[in-house]
Amino acid sequence: MGDLAFMQNYKQLFEEYMKKELACYQKGYHYRLAEAMAYSLLAGGKRLRPILCLCACEACGTKKEEALPAALALEAIHTYSLIHDDLPGMDNDDLRRGNPTNHKVFGEAMAILAGDGLQSMAYEVLSNYGAKEPEKALAMITELSKRAGSGGMCAGQAADIMAENEEVDAEKLNYIHNHKTGDLIIGALIMGAIAAGSDEKQRKALAEYGYHLGLAFQITDDILDVTGDEAKLGKPVGSDDKNHKLTFPALYGLAEARKMAEQSVAKAKEAIAALADNDNLLALAEYLLEREN
Ligand code: IPE
Ligand code: IPE
Ligand code: MG
Ligand code: MG
Ligand code: MG
Repeated sequence: MGDLAFMQNYKQLFEEYMKKELACYQKGYHYRLAEAMAYSLLAGGKRLRPILCLCACEACGTKKEEALPAALALEAIHTYSLIHDDLPGMDNDDLRRGNPTNHKVFGEAMAILAGDGLQSMAYEVLSNYGAKEPEKALAMITELSKRAGSGGMCAGQAADIMAENEEVDAEKLNYIHNHKTGDLIIGALIMGAIAAGSDEKQRKALAEYGYHLGLAFQITDDILDVTGDEAKLGKPVGSDDKNHKLTFPALYGLAEARKMAEQSVAKAKEAIAALADNDNLLALAEYLLEREN
């Protein structure tokens, strides 16, 4: 595996920036909302999408700090998706990022609202960035709304829920994973590339890397739901089985699913072979096969 020490540094840079930005979400009669949003955002998490966004910016030749607003917008959208994903009406899970899920602490109504608030916050952060970089901000908003919305992550989540009561289908399984997880990962890379003022060729390579990385990431998520250690994972194992989810291990078995994740990682690495400063992105792809959380 490549050197992963950079992940910790990038994570720290991102989290310091995030904490500073969160200071403007003040208390009032709605104070439970700000608390619920901060609870899930600050609970931890790998910060994979922010890290990918910063690395893509660097791989396109610009310093990573330029991509921090995009990274925060991505983590806000991702965190909202986790809060809603855990709700009783969706996966009905009690543990997330090593802590009780948002609705277990704040109640269902406040958890729904915290997700809503985080979703709007993402676009607020980008429009604030637009005061300095209007063209880049608009391109980021276009990218994020497409990747997160009803043709992207939200579509994948809907298909995932619908598939609980439908016949298994390999094509549908790919659709679910590419959208519920892959789209935001592609979005993270493209938004980093936009921050860098990249060219078309760089964006195409990053989008292809993201496509394969996203699939590998969700296949490993499915595998960890079967084989993982709850204490390390910070979320329940066996959630997919409980909910009759359509997953790679369910359809192909664990060994084959692992092989498919390896193949996707190889394709991801191939896609960015020609990019400059691709070391971190290559190391991240390999890390996906080893991750324990
Ligand atoms: C979990 O994402 C949801 C999926 C899309 C599989 P992560 O595994 O990135 O969760 P955190 O951010 O580290 O908590
Ligand atoms: C959810 O997939 C993907 C999202 C968009 C949140 P999962 O339901 O498998 O994610 P986990 O396993 O609960 O993190
Ligand atoms: Mg789910
Ligand atoms: Mg879930
Ligand atoms: Mg899962």
